[in-house]
Amino acid sequence: MVTLQLDRLTAYYGRRQILSEISTPLFHGGQVVALLGPNAAGKSTLFRRIFGLLQGGGDIRIEGAKASRPICYMPQENAVNAVLSVYETVLLARMQGRRLKVTPEDLAQVDQTLDELGITALGKRNIGDLSGGQRQLVSAAQALVQAPEILLLDEPTSALDLNRQIGFLSVLRRLAAERRLLVMVALHDLGHALRYTDQAMVLQDGRLTACGQSNEVITPELLRQVYGVAARIESCSKGRPLLILDDVA
Ligand SMILES: Nc1ncnc2c1ncn2[C@@H]1O[C@H](COP(=O)(O)OP(=O)(O)OP(=O)(O)O)[C@@H](O)[C@H]1O
Ligand SMILES: [Mg+2]
Repeated sequence: MVTLQLDRLTAYYGRRQILSEISTPLFHGGQVVALLGPNAAGKSTLFRRIFGLLQGGGDIRIEGAKASRPICYMPQENAVNAVLSVYETVLLARMQGRRLKVTPEDLAQVDQTLDELGITALGKRNIGDLSGGQRQLVSAAQALVQAPEILLLDEPTSALDLNRQIGFLSVLRRLAAERRLLVMVALHDLGHALRYTDQAMVLQDGRLTACGQSNEVITPELLRQVYGVAARIESCSKGRPLLILDDVA
């Protein structure tokens, strides 16, 4: 099973240091880890650093991976090549770093991924003609189709309607369990993080200020200190934790 641990990881844009020595416990395949923190905290920067798009100090320790490139990354914003269809876009992502010849397995993987994300019907559509939410699901498909062992998703639900938000997060949780996939997902909806993630790491101004089980990390104190909101977490009539936002703190 794949494991990931960050050890004193730093990242810079030019001379400006964005991440200050981020160290985490050992994460492993099967887990869904929420990456939380306010705007400009460094979430996207951390993903870029882990994926190798940014250099810096410290170590990214990956062990137990089957592939030589086990990580896939879905960026927060995706540049689209408007000439391609949805199917072609996802197939092209699948072929990245592989052979030149498309195999039946590649096509099956594209079909399965489109099906998992409920976008099979969009296959022939031009990627440039999609709605924002449709495009976001295609972007997720591009990452998922590569059958990663570690999947980094930067706010994958920000453009989705309510049904698709919880649908997507449920699929993620199931795939993490079924494929022993380690998912790290940046989210702004802490209610979703409470319900759909196992672990949570909280960034604040480039530092890791909390890390642990989501239901232990996401507390009214955290919401006040990190996000500046007064909030309650109560048990709903079904016994699940429910996040209620009262006011700005
Ligand atoms: N390409 C860049 N060049 C220089 N500075 C950058 C660049 N990208 C981001 N930054 C800065 O780095 C800091 C962290 O940004 P980052 O995008 O990682 O935040 P974030 O936590 O993902 O925020 P959000 O929730 O708004 O997506 C911010 O101060 C931002 O202005
Ligand atoms: Mg970001």
